[in-house]
Amino acid sequence: MSVSRRTFVSRCSAALGVISLRPTLSAWTEPRGATQAARPPRPAAAEYDKILKLSANENPYGPSEAVMKAMTDGLKYAHRYGAPDGGLVEAIAAHHGVKPENVLVGAGSGEILDVVGTTYLEGGRRVLGFDPTYNSVYQHATTVKSEGIKLPLRDDYSQDVGALVAAARTHYRDIGFVYLCNPNNPTGMVVRKNEVKQLLDGLPPDVPVLIDEAYHHFVTDPGYATAIPYVLEGRQIVVSRTFSKIAALAGMRLGYGIAPKEMIDHMRPHATGSINTAVRWAGVAALADTTTQTQVRTQNAEARKTTAAALEALGYHVLPSETNFFMVDIRREVVPVIEAFRARGIAVGRPFPPMTKQLRVSIGTAAEMSQFLDCFADLMRSAKTATGDPHA
Ligand SMILES: Cc1ncc(COP(=O)(O)O)c(C=O)c1O
Repeated sequence: MSVSRRTFVSRCSAALGVISLRPTLSAWTEPRGATQAARPPRPAAAEYDKILKLSANENPYGPSEAVMKAMTDGLKYAHRYGAPDGGLVEAIAAHHGVKPENVLVGAGSGEILDVVGTTYLEGGRRVLGFDPTYNSVYQHATTVKSEGIKLPLRDDYSQDVGALVAAARTHYRDIGFVYLCNPNNPTGMVVRKNEVKQLLDGLPPDVPVLIDEAYHHFVTDPGYATAIPYVLEGRQIVVSRTFSKIAALAGMRLGYGIAPKEMIDHMRPHATGSINTAVRWAGVAALADTTTQTQVRTQNAEARKTTAAALEALGYHVLPSETNFFMVDIRREVVPVIEAFRARGIAVGRPFPPMTKQLRVSIGTAAEMSQFLDCFADLMRSAKTATGDPHA
């Protein structure tokens, strides 16, 4: 972060409400949100590098030394097709105690989500899930001429598994697959293991389920567990994982799905197979680098706890997140606040209707979170002064 603390603090002291809307907002907050054609242009490097990035749930620490070395070593094959990749699929399979035939790799787990959609939404079948959740599955559904059946979250923003089962039974003939993001993005909240079991036991057995575990590694709640063991039982389930978050490889694009062999065989023709050799080597190294994973998990959990406590102390409620982001109820519409943060060099999450008063913030380093908190306190103080409302 090249912005000095003094510059930063003074930037934060402008009153909320005098900030103009910036056309580039979506470029900061929507990495996979728009279609390729509609996507805003990428910012220039000089501008990008100055921004404190708390919008896309990335890993603020970057890849570990071991991962960087493996990735750099892999570059010696940059001019080759089909070069050795360090045994990525075998390493993923061994890591989860499944067979290589149960693994499908993709250019990010986003590709796996798309592949599930392309495979199981054929003939206009629909994806059933919650809203808000990771919207990509619904967006992809529209590109394959399908659509979502979206259930609201409960009043406390948790995902109501019983409602999902009931809707799956009601819409049985229309559904291509059920999507559960666990932990959920944007809320950061988990569905506990007993409820995941309730879901899988309650659904008609021939309805495929996609469980998106992109944020698995950040969970500290002992009531949560991965759904991968259900794959070994042969259930119709795909579990997606990513190297973008815990392994800090978002820009390098690597993710995978774990599923029964028949499902993998069904899906494989829809995957591009376009994963570069360098990130394949990086993925193998990342799986082995458990020390760095533990460090990242610990630092993230600490920053999450400290930031949430500070926000609560200021009087703003934070949803119980198990991820590397959280939502804070700012009791006012988030859009102007997002713009105000952006004007001060901080990118925070986009709006997630209908949760339009909950600001999603990614967790950065301890120093970054202290910058965020200074700015947050300042903006909220300015809002109170501007409106005369002490509760604003
Ligand atoms: C819940 C969830 N799933 C999947 C993805 C896609 O990640 P990637 O394609 O980088 O693996 C994201 C990205 O933020 C996400 O939040």
